[in-house]
Amino acid sequence: MARILITSAIPYINGIKHLGNLVGSQLPADLFARYMRARGHEVIFICATDEHGTPAELAAAKAGKPVEEYCAEMHEVQKDLAAGFRLSFDHFGRSSSQRNHRLTQHFAGRLAENGLIQEVSEKQVFSIDDNRFLPDRYITGTCPNCGNTSARGDQCEECTKQLDPTDLINPRSSISGSTNLEVRETKHLYLRQRALRDKLEAWIDSKTDWPILTTSIAKKWLNDGDGLQDRGITRDLYWGIPVKKGDQPWPGMEGKVFYVWFDAPIEYIAGTAEWADANGLDDAAWERWWRTDKGAEDVTYYQFMGKDNVPFHTLSFPATILGSGEPWKLVDYLKSFNYLNYDGGQFSTSQGRGVFMDQALSILPADYWRWWLLSHAPENSDSEFTWENFQASVNKDLADVLGNFVSRVTKFAKSKLGETVPAGGDFTPAETALIADLGARIRDYESLMAQMEVRKAAAELRAIWVIGNEYLQAAAPWSAVKTDPARAEAIVRLSLNLIRVYAILSRPFIPDAAATMMAAMGSEDWSWPEDVPAALRTLAPGDAYSVPENLFRKITDEERADWQQKFSGIRT
Ligand code: MF3
Ligand code: ZN
Repeated sequence: MARILITSAIPYINGIKHLGNLVGSQLPADLFARYMRARGHEVIFICATDEHGTPAELAAAKAGKPVEEYCAEMHEVQKDLAAGFRLSFDHFGRSSSQRNHRLTQHFAGRLAENGLIQEVSEKQVFSIDDNRFLPDRYITGTCPNCGNTSARGDQCEECTKQLDPTDLINPRSSISGSTNLEVRETKHLYLRQRALRDKLEAWIDSKTDWPILTTSIAKKWLNDGDGLQDRGITRDLYWGIPVKKGDQPWPGMEGKVFYVWFDAPIEYIAGTAEWADANGLDDAAWERWWRTDKGAEDVTYYQFMGKDNVPFHTLSFPATILGSGEPWKLVDYLKSFNYLNYDGGQFSTSQGRGVFMDQALSILPADYWRWWLLSHAPENSDSEFTWENFQASVNKDLADVLGNFVSRVTKFAKSKLGETVPAGGDFTPAETALIADLGARIRDYESLMAQMEVRKAAAELRAIWVIGNEYLQAAAPWSAVKTDPARAEAIVRLSLNLIRVYAILSRPFIPDAAATMMAAMGSEDWSWPEDVPAALRTLAPGDAYSVPENLFRKITDEERADWQQKFSGIRT
């Protein structure tokens, strides 16, 4: 049994996430966590809301609420939606927690002690009308790179170039729109990432099994002209973690907070501490996941995220960890994703384009979305959500293949052979062939799941459902029952057992349907089918089963057209 630590990139607090966000981090992380638990490993799966920075302050201002209140409310909203999608976090924390305050200040203190923090006096844009500095998104202007007139101070959304507020042409305040701005001196802390370059490079080079997407992004940032820069880790903002050196004040830094991207990944650790606190456990309970001097030497750590997050996880956060000089766990495997597009364009939170998590659950249960999203995960390239494709996948894969198998078997069995697993007949070459095929496919599915090949694993799972259907079609118990009832009994016995095995195999993808299937088979035995022939004899003659309610309904053409229309515009 292995010990597996899994984190998903923590979603920003400002608003409900869209399906593109979900499939790029939290959902595949959940798939992997569920699979590893099913295999009997000791898993801890941590996520949280990313609550600091200008997006949070701006969203709170827009909602007319104090930022603390806004964040507390949105945290609950996101937590409930995560539960609605059956994301099986062991803990869903908050980057604004006291745990994160203390840990973030601790790391900053350690970095300072190790000579890795530099105090820099720099020029920042100050708004005279707003009487404040305008870091990051507080400033809007024209992108010097592509001419987009609404580029933000931290990045241009059009051309994705990372920017400095002072780079913008015709800058204006995002708060008041004022152009009455001036440049003022202010002191900030910089993390001397450059001093850690060789260590970071050696570490990245040691990760020979990482996906190409991950390594290529990391390498690009490490080697490009404007690659690994020393990085400002403080901001002139109200909302955030106060700058301190451990638990000591930091002279000259009064009133400043850490930059959101400095504290957010530390929340992976802090979130695990929050998990311990929430469960009445001591520090040793979370430290054994994170400190290699306190039990984490045998932990394997997996991170899941969208490709835009990769630089922060391959360079900045590891720089914090390595620079601390303390034995904290570094990520072992980093799974990153491309983007999911929406119906001919992009999902966009700022423009409200696409389907958002709350809307999705209001029209169909979680399993429908989970299946489509995971089976179309943007792994090797960007992928696209279209309503036609969604309808086709749900109707074919879920309703026609899996749902149909379960309902045909159980309805036939109940009407012709009674409500317990029938005893007659023996396996023939047809069953032997099915079992062999299934065995090989399950082993393949296992290795794809272990490698986080999400799409391929979904395709293999679907193929596993298909061979059950093909077997049933060929064995035709509805014909056999007329001439050779014992033969029909053997077919049904195997098919009922298949349903239970399908429940186990499918659970990481579609947990609710899996639970319904297992309950209908009258079993609670979720143990993984290591020995496939044995697993297919688990339901024994005489065991009770029942006909479950329809597992999946089909999406009609009218519904599809209706939803397409409803979600074509801008979310209000
Ligand atoms: N909130 C960021 C995003 O959605 C992800 C932060 S991940 C962590 O892009 F590293 F900060 F934890
Ligand atoms: Zn641009």
